[in-house]
Amino acid sequence: MRKGIILAGGKGKRLHPITKVISKQLIPVYDKPLIFYPLSVLIKIGITDILIICVPTDLKIFKKLIHDLRLKNIKISFKSQKKPNGLPEAFKIGKKFIGKSDVALILGDNIFYNKDLNSIINKYIYEKNTASIFIKKVKKPNEFGVITKTSRGINIEEKPKKPKSNNVITGIYFFPNDVCKKVVKLKFSSRGETEITDLIKIYINENRINLVNLKNTIWLDTGNPDNLLKASNIIYKLKKNKKISVGNLD
Ligand code: G1P
Repeated sequence: MRKGIILAGGKGKRLHPITKVISKQLIPVYDKPLIFYPLSVLIKIGITDILIICVPTDLKIFKKLIHDLRLKNIKISFKSQKKPNGLPEAFKIGKKFIGKSDVALILGDNIFYNKDLNSIINKYIYEKNTASIFIKKVKKPNEFGVITKTSRGINIEEKPKKPKSNNVITGIYFFPNDVCKKVVKLKFSSRGETEITDLIKIYINENRINLVNLKNTIWLDTGNPDNLLKASNIIYKLKKNKKISVGNLD
């Protein structure tokens, strides 16, 4: 069974006061709670064993929301993240769940849409022992992990003040099983968390990285109010104008 983790923790500070009372990933984006979108991506690409990690206080509400969907042939389990210690902590919390498998991680606030997403992603991932990350060109790279290809190799930086390129890493990643050993070695950054970019650096240094350009794919990161509204509008327009329903779970 292929395994995937949805990380839906965090304080959602940029969305206060909304996220003072509700997890970011439960906020509606047009007609669905945000978490439906990354969940639909994992299901679409054939992942049937899924771990949702959320804050302890919202565990009950996430469980109810997901159980009520009665998804067929999909196994979903839940764990909590007590503090926002960074994205790589998902592999510590999920160690037992991962077991001997390779694992996908998708961020609970990321939306992807491409009708061929399944074949695009599956074409590249699961190259034995290689991590796969998915990149996009954006206007404001300083808000993301920035990736630059130089003659000396691949360079990656978390939210740099002066980005060296417009290519950033999106919130979906595939790691080989040894990710569980690698995360233990990560140190806390100046932001007070472990960084996914530091984890990726380890695979870059070992020459075990696969960069996939997600051109022609809609990618929406909904971490701030403007982007949240923008995402709702895009999804609304896709439905009304093109009869495309993003984030469907049936
Ligand atoms: C995280 C990662 C960043 C990545 C982004 C994608 O940032 O740290 O490298 O580009 O997700 O959504 P966050 O959105 O948690 O600030």
